[in-house]
Amino acid sequence: MCGICGVVSNANVVNDLFFGIKQLEYRGYDSCGMAIINGKGLVAPKNIGSIDEVDRKEDFHQYRGNVGISHTRWATHGSVTQKNSHPHLSQNQQFAIVHNGIISNFRDLRQQLINEGYLFSSETDSEVFAHLMDRHYKLYNNIEEAIAASVKLVEGSYAICLLSVHDPKTLYCIKNESPLVLGIGEGTNYVASDFYAFVKFTRNAVILDDREIAVVSNDSYYVRNADTGEIKRKNIFTIDWSVETSQKGGYPHYMLKEIYEQPESLTKAFLTPDIEFTNFADILTKAKEKYFVGVGTTFYVAEYGKYFFADFLGEFCPAISSDEFNAIAKTTKDTAILCFSQSGETYDTLQAIKKVKDSGGKALSITNVMGSTMARMCDATILQKSGPEICVISTKAALSQMALLSFIGLEAAEKMAKISTSEKEKYVSELKALPELISKLLNERSGFIHSVAKKYADEFNWLFLGKGIYYAVAQESALKLKEVAYVHAEAMPCGFLKHGTIALIDEKFHSMVFVPHHDEECLFKHTMSSVEEIKARKGATVGFHFGTNVPEGLFNDQIVLPEETTKMQAPFIQLVAAQLFSYYVAYTLKRDIDKPRNLAKSVTVG
Ligand code: G6P
Repeated sequence: MCGICGVVSNANVVNDLFFGIKQLEYRGYDSCGMAIINGKGLVAPKNIGSIDEVDRKEDFHQYRGNVGISHTRWATHGSVTQKNSHPHLSQNQQFAIVHNGIISNFRDLRQQLINEGYLFSSETDSEVFAHLMDRHYKLYNNIEEAIAASVKLVEGSYAICLLSVHDPKTLYCIKNESPLVLGIGEGTNYVASDFYAFVKFTRNAVILDDREIAVVSNDSYYVRNADTGEIKRKNIFTIDWSVETSQKGGYPHYMLKEIYEQPESLTKAFLTPDIEFTNFADILTKAKEKYFVGVGTTFYVAEYGKYFFADFLGEFCPAISSDEFNAIAKTTKDTAILCFSQSGETYDTLQAIKKVKDSGGKALSITNVMGSTMARMCDATILQKSGPEICVISTKAALSQMALLSFIGLEAAEKMAKISTSEKEKYVSELKALPELISKLLNERSGFIHSVAKKYADEFNWLFLGKGIYYAVAQESALKLKEVAYVHAEAMPCGFLKHGTIALIDEKFHSMVFVPHHDEECLFKHTMSSVEEIKARKGATVGFHFGTNVPEGLFNDQIVLPEETTKMQAPFIQLVAAQLFSYYVAYTLKRDIDKPRNLAKSVTVG
């Protein structure tokens, strides 16, 4: 969503504020701004465009000050205009605020404030908070009390950081359902939506909980509960991500770097202690209803899990997109939910967890961000240790989640006597061989995949066909192509094609086929029939397959994947190949690969 950074220091803060929002740009990038207190009062340059574009217009670095806030926006309320960019100032310019989240009752609050004589200069929900601060400061003459009084009136999710000319050496912040972390440095302290903003400067972080107010100066901070006023003791934790891993390291894009990091990120995921898989398997096998939940890419991880559990356990565990979870999932104290989330902050997925917890059920998660809201809300969490995923398009995080889910599934299958211990060990060793196989794929097939992608880069309509677990791969691969290349791709189970969509097929229409591993005879046979149906209607086809049993000349073009791949490994190998295909199509089309239009990596609003 939006990215927030605040810095208070005994030195000039502008460089750190700028660096902070650059690091957070993956959260939204339609406009940005800063507010800084300098000797004369508050200045707040802001404008529309990427951070570098706005810097060219506004020249952030001309300003100096020891306390400031910055913001990079992903518009929700109010279009992309300079006035709607953050920070927002109170009417008399005594407060400046930046906000991430949605103030759901802002229309009522706005009307009340207008009735009281406040003039609004933006269409945003956020601006109400600046005016509420002004109103309550006049009543209490104290910033903390003004914050506490303001948040009493505000409904929704928010992470807010503010500063005021009434206390020009301090940053104030408050959060509810949107993440906010403090960075504790020496002579300089930070507030940010996540620790990418300041990990270069300090690895010591404090995570704020809901409805906590933090008061931060350059050499101290304290945190209190907004409702009770009670001072909270907070643990400082050490961020274990290095600065280097969050840099591009010679790759043209983070997406390519992260695709190439997959052997390493899988190896790190495999270090997860077995006891964590056993614990997850225990909880899931005991539950009466169990659901796999995620959204966007992680919904397709959940889909993969659905097929995996059906195959290995003979159990139907619905995969539900977290934005629909509350509408359809029955939850009781016997429900268990396994959620997937790179960021651990996705609003829709957090809401699904809340529903399960409110019913007395169990919530489990696999996430990449230590200390995230999801990790703290769930009964148990597996940290996947993929390292920072900077590209807005998820690659390595999703692949590790699929692998971890497979370990849990195998553990559960053994526990339910669906597979023997020796079978389980065989499958585990195949999963553990994935890093080597993926390295081979990346080394040997990348150039060829690039050439196929280049050839088809001008095709703007695709069907992505799969069957069984390969349908999950087709869905995730189609999402990759849409997100990064802005090319329409509709994923469909092979068997569904003939029930209507086949009307689209002619010599101009392209289908990408995810051919199942030859050991999956039934899936393989049905997929082949679908390809024949397309060919009979002169449709163009491209196939991802493993060489064996695929007739010569069946596809217009084919991407042959390592023949030694096993059934267990096949979905992973196909997905990595399809990630490369999407990357190279986007590259050929000169898309903004790491920050595609309209997207944000972490959607923390509903
Ligand atoms: C957003 C992103 C998607 C991502 C989804 C889930 O919609 O644009 O790429 O897959 O959120 O994110 P999460 O952090 O929960 O994995």
